[in-house]
Amino acid sequence: MYQIGLLGLGIVGTGTAEILLNPSRRNPLLSEMKIKRVGVRSLEKPRSVQLPRDILTTDLDSIVNDPDISIIVELLGGLEPARSLILKAIRAGKHVVTANKAVIARYREEIYAAARKAGVYVLIEAAVGGGIPIIKPLKQSLGANRLQSIVGIVNGTTNYILTQMTSFGTDFETVLRKAQELGYAEADPSADVDGLDAADKISILASIGFGGHIKREDVYCEGIRQVSSADITYGDRLGFVIKLLAIARGNAGEESDRLELRVHPTLVPKEHPLANINGVNNAILVEGDPLGQVMFYGPGAGSGPTASAVVSDIMNIVAILKSSGNAASLDPLLIPNHQHYCQIIPIEELSSSFYTRFISTDLPGVIGQIGTCFGENQVSLKSVVQIGFQEADAEIVVVTHNVQEKLFRQAIEEISRLEAIKDIPCVLRVI
Ligand code: HSE
Repeated sequence: MYQIGLLGLGIVGTGTAEILLNPSRRNPLLSEMKIKRVGVRSLEKPRSVQLPRDILTTDLDSIVNDPDISIIVELLGGLEPARSLILKAIRAGKHVVTANKAVIARYREEIYAAARKAGVYVLIEAAVGGGIPIIKPLKQSLGANRLQSIVGIVNGTTNYILTQMTSFGTDFETVLRKAQELGYAEADPSADVDGLDAADKISILASIGFGGHIKREDVYCEGIRQVSSADITYGDRLGFVIKLLAIARGNAGEESDRLELRVHPTLVPKEHPLANINGVNNAILVEGDPLGQVMFYGPGAGSGPTASAVVSDIMNIVAILKSSGNAASLDPLLIPNHQHYCQIIPIEELSSSFYTRFISTDLPGVIGQIGTCFGENQVSLKSVVQIGFQEADAEIVVVTHNVQEKLFRQAIEEISRLEAIKDIPCVLRVI
């Protein structure tokens, strides 16, 4: 029997325990695993999963130091004590399975250096895309490709909010409250709605796909708070839907191996493969040479789907332990061995087409003034639409051709100083 120590019995921990306790008609390897201890915050809390009372403990250190346990499954979430417990488990010679994207995105180098030294695996399939297999495919099945891009909808909460806003014209705050009632969004929704969760996830995918560590603070990140129903409606008329995209792209034309790495709400053409990914679902579109495009789609969060990914990692480790007796020589396809950090291109240097909505006084010549500011900064316009707004105000929606972000921002800075411009409520990039 392979003994497992489970840290955390929340939504994903409960789903994981349910699979491990019910191996019937699943892979036979599951019958060779046993949950030895479960670390929880409170012994009194009622639990939906039936576990012997005496295997629960609040002493998490005693689990990572238990000599009988060979695999630690960290499902606590948050940075601490999760990071310290993962490192302690590794140093005690235990393999680790974790769904903790926040820890992996920030401490990947430290954790994998410790794992290589200890000769143990740290597997993270559940950290990105919930139940969607994406980590192992990137490491193994797609390993022969030169990757060009990884573009994903990797946050279910924001995708649910944007889908509801699009389908029912509901405003952001109302949908957010509904998402909180349904348990999709946290009481403090910032990690999701400000794009931080998606930034953690794309930094992990980019590390694997492009073969280098990523400094988490290098990921450019904007959330969805600025997106209003008005932008969704204008986007729709122009042939787009709005999605929070996480984008990692290698710049093949460059001499150096620099990456684009960014998270922001994006106008996506309706015919794009990611345009119809709705609700809490996630999808990741990977493009490589010679593969072309492949898309991974499915439930990006939730107890069962995420637990499915956790248990697949546990099975992987057990399969290796069974076949090799020990893991002294680590499978290089399963554990990263790169040492360098990827260089990330500053957002100002990237080029995009931009959508911008202006609120202005409805006076003769305003569109001309906006056009002049754009023209003087070498920003070429694809379309300009003026819509009557409220009383003497007008709403002007502009879509540019591809332009370097630095030049676009210079133009916007000048336009914001025009007397007729009252507000610039929304600027979005177009993919
Ligand atoms: N909060 C995440 C989401 C789920 O909304 O996608 C866990 O990664």
